[in-house]
Amino acid sequence: MKLRRAVYPGAFDPITNGHIDIIERSAKIFDEVIVAILLNIEKRPMFSVDERIDMIRAVLKLGNVRVDTFEGLLVHYAVAQQAEVIVRGIRAVSDYEYELQMALMNRRLEPRLETVFMMRAEGYSYLSSRLIKEVHTLGGSVKGLVPDLVEERMRAKHKA
Ligand code: PNS
Repeated sequence: MKLRRAVYPGAFDPITNGHIDIIERSAKIFDEVIVAILLNIEKRPMFSVDERIDMIRAVLKLGNVRVDTFEGLLVHYAVAQQAEVIVRGIRAVSDYEYELQMALMNRRLEPRLETVFMMRAEGYSYLSSRLIKEVHTLGGSVKGLVPDLVEERMRAKHKA
């Protein structure tokens, strides 16, 4: 039987509980989910790619999820991985326009790939890595919004 493989792409700088929610939901639907970190997306990331991979691996304990990196076009990577689906989380209506643009461009580039939008648990609907970093850097608590391990590593970064 053919394996249904999905790619969940992003920067994951750092992974939040909102991302984890989407990964867990996708892992129930697809045979395999690849969490794919885009290399060089941000000029000054908080965490190096290796640190991000390490945190994601440490907090995700699902047998059918693996972590990888990619560069260049997402559709090229997804096809090379023999994935059929790109998973994206939608938080609010404001996300939709950008996500629609990407999904339609990706479909134009590679009609064999389908983008699937998934809704997060409502408790995490407002979360973004950018906001998490801003709140943390300015001294606010991000407890409960990212895994404990990520919070610890953010604190360690802040002290360094
Ligand atoms: O974490 P993000 O910023 O929401 O992730 C955006 C991401 C990585 C999905 C997007 O920037 C992407 O796919 N980049 C790879 C380059 C590419 O394929 N660009 C064309 C998209 S239509």
